[in-house]
Amino acid sequence: MAPRKIIIDTDPGQDDAAAIMLAFASPEELDVLGLCAVAGNVPLSFTSRNLRIVCELCGRPDAKVYEGALKPLNRPQVTAEHVHGRTGLDGAELPEPAMSAQPTHAVDFIIETLMREPAGTVTICTLGPLTNLALALQKAPDIAGRIQELVMMGGGLFEGGNITPTAEFNIYVDPEAAKIVFDAGIPTVMMPLDVTHQLLTTKARVAKIAAIGTRPAQVLVEWLAFFERFDIEKYGSDGGPLHDPTVIAYLLKPELFSGRHCNVEIETQSELTVGMTVADWWGVTDRKPNATFMRNVDADGFFELLTERVSRL
Ligand code: RIB
Ligand code: CA
Repeated sequence: MAPRKIIIDTDPGQDDAAAIMLAFASPEELDVLGLCAVAGNVPLSFTSRNLRIVCELCGRPDAKVYEGALKPLNRPQVTAEHVHGRTGLDGAELPEPAMSAQPTHAVDFIIETLMREPAGTVTICTLGPLTNLALALQKAPDIAGRIQELVMMGGGLFEGGNITPTAEFNIYVDPEAAKIVFDAGIPTVMMPLDVTHQLLTTKARVAKIAAIGTRPAQVLVEWLAFFERFDIEKYGSDGGPLHDPTVIAYLLKPELFSGRHCNVEIETQSELTVGMTVADWWGVTDRKPNATFMRNVDADGFFELLTERVSRL
């Protein structure tokens, strides 16, 4: 079977890096048409740099990297250096990237790709704020009906939020963008904190990645050691939640996950709860279901997949 064509939109971020490594390690299943940097964990200049560092670490200096939105649609930029470090990829020492970003803007790349490829054959994987995809939908609304599936890391319900008591970071940074995306009628799979908080980078799991012994695996271990420290401190857990690789793992082994197709609305007005993903899990409203909200995951199966694939790099 031909590999699934995907576009990855991302704000690296150590956990984004793990997701991209998983994607590049799976060429028989995934054809990465391009990778789009968005401002999120750190400013765009760093997310673009970091994305190219990850491509080169994976032996993919040929990958097409595009630069997107510098800031959210209507709000000041919010970043997460407190989690990811000043550069967004703190934890490992790597050279500055030699590869350049493409001259085309990420939003135009998304539009051009979706209009060129046969309808329903390109999956969008978002690992950061939804600004680029929202801008593409505003500029070319027809792309909504051409997207095979949107698989996104973001949101939360039973787990609450991680940047405010009710909002998860990717949604909180650009709630207006998230609302545009969730209102667009795109077949959507959500990987919320309710799933990612079950995926802790425990010492035993990280030790298996370290045992691979390759440079990519060692760098990933160093990134995870930096990335997890904030959440270990916050939650008092053995390891921190590994968010973004869930998106790619779903494409590779969807059976690892289970959830419910339900309505998800985005709060954009309330100062108290802005960025909250209001998922109607119990079907108490007549609002139309618009996303598959994942809630359960086979954590050991997820880490076995990640570890085995990283060993292929
Ligand atoms: O809330 C977790 C999400 O925000 C992850 O995608 C992480 O990389 C940050 O972007
Ligand atoms: Ca991210």
